[in-house]
Amino acid sequence: MPLVSMGPLLRRARADGYGVAAYNMIDFNSARAIVNGATDMNAPVIIQVSVKTVKHWGYRHLANWVWMLANDAPVPVALHLDHCTDIDVIKRCIDAGWTSVMFDGSSLPFEENLAKSKAVYALTESAKIGLEAEIGAIGGVEDDKVVNDDAARLADFDECLKFVAEMPNLAAFAPAIGTAHGFYRGEAKIAYDLLERITNAIDIPIALHGGTGLTDDQFHRCIGLGCGKVNISTMHKRLFIEGFTNLKAEKPTLAEPLPFLMAQEEAMKADVRSNIKTFGSAGRAWEVSDVA
Ligand code: 13P
Repeated sequence: MPLVSMGPLLRRARADGYGVAAYNMIDFNSARAIVNGATDMNAPVIIQVSVKTVKHWGYRHLANWVWMLANDAPVPVALHLDHCTDIDVIKRCIDAGWTSVMFDGSSLPFEENLAKSKAVYALTESAKIGLEAEIGAIGGVEDDKVVNDDAARLADFDECLKFVAEMPNLAAFAPAIGTAHGFYRGEAKIAYDLLERITNAIDIPIALHGGTGLTDDQFHRCIGLGCGKVNISTMHKRLFIEGFTNLKAEKPTLAEPLPFLMAQEEAMKADVRSNIKTFGSAGRAWEVSDVA
C-alpha cells in the first residue's frame, strides 16, 4: 500500500496499548528487512532515517526505495526522518516524500526549542505530514549527536505541557525520560513516574528513544504508559554488520555476495519480528489499513 503517515498509526497504537517499531534503516537491504519483518508479523512499521544516512544515499533515491517497498507491502509503512536540527534538510525531505520528520531542538534553551519546533510544525502542518519533537536531552550517541551523562536531562513536566499546547497535532512527542541511545552500561533508569504524569496530561503518542538494550518488562511498562513509537537503531546496525561478518567467519572462502546479503537480511529481520512481538503490534496491520 502507499506510504502512510505516522500520526494516525501512532494514535491508534497508543489508544490500543501497543507500540509501533521504528527502525533506523541503513541501506536498501536493511529497509527491506524492516518491511519484510513487519510483513511476516502483519504489523505496521516505521522506517526512520538518520540525517547522515539521507545525505549518504540522497533524498530522492532513499525515498524511492522506501516508497517502492511500501507500495508492494501488505502492511502500513511510514517514512520518518530521525533527529534533525537542520530545517533545510527537513524541507528537502518533505519535498522528496517523507511522511513525517523529527525536529530535535533539545540542545537549545527551552524557549528557542519551542520557537524553532513551532516553525517546523507550521511547515509540516501545511505539507500535511507528521512532526515529532523532543524536549529534555536524551543521552547517548545517535548519528553525529553525542549527549554525555552530564548533559542528559529529563524533560521538565511544566515545559512538556507548554510545548505540546502550542503544537496539539504533533504526530509524536519525545520527552527525555531516562532512556539513552546506544548500548546501556547497566540497566536503563527510566523515570516511569514522569512518563505517567506526562501521559496522564497529554494524549499525543510518546516516542520511546533508545530502544536497544531495554528489557521486555521495560518495553511493556513504557508502552502501557503511552509510548506508541519505539525506536531501535543500535541493535539494527550491529546485526547489519554481524549478519555479514558471521557468515564470513563461518565460510571464509565464500566468494558469492548474495548469501552475505541474505544472511544480513535474515539477522535484521529476526530482530524486527521479535521486537514487533514484544511491542504487541503483531497482527495489527488491519487496524490501520484505513489510514493509507
Ligand atoms: P538506539 O540506538 O539506542 O536503539 O536508539 C534509537 C533511537 O532512539 C533513534 O532515535
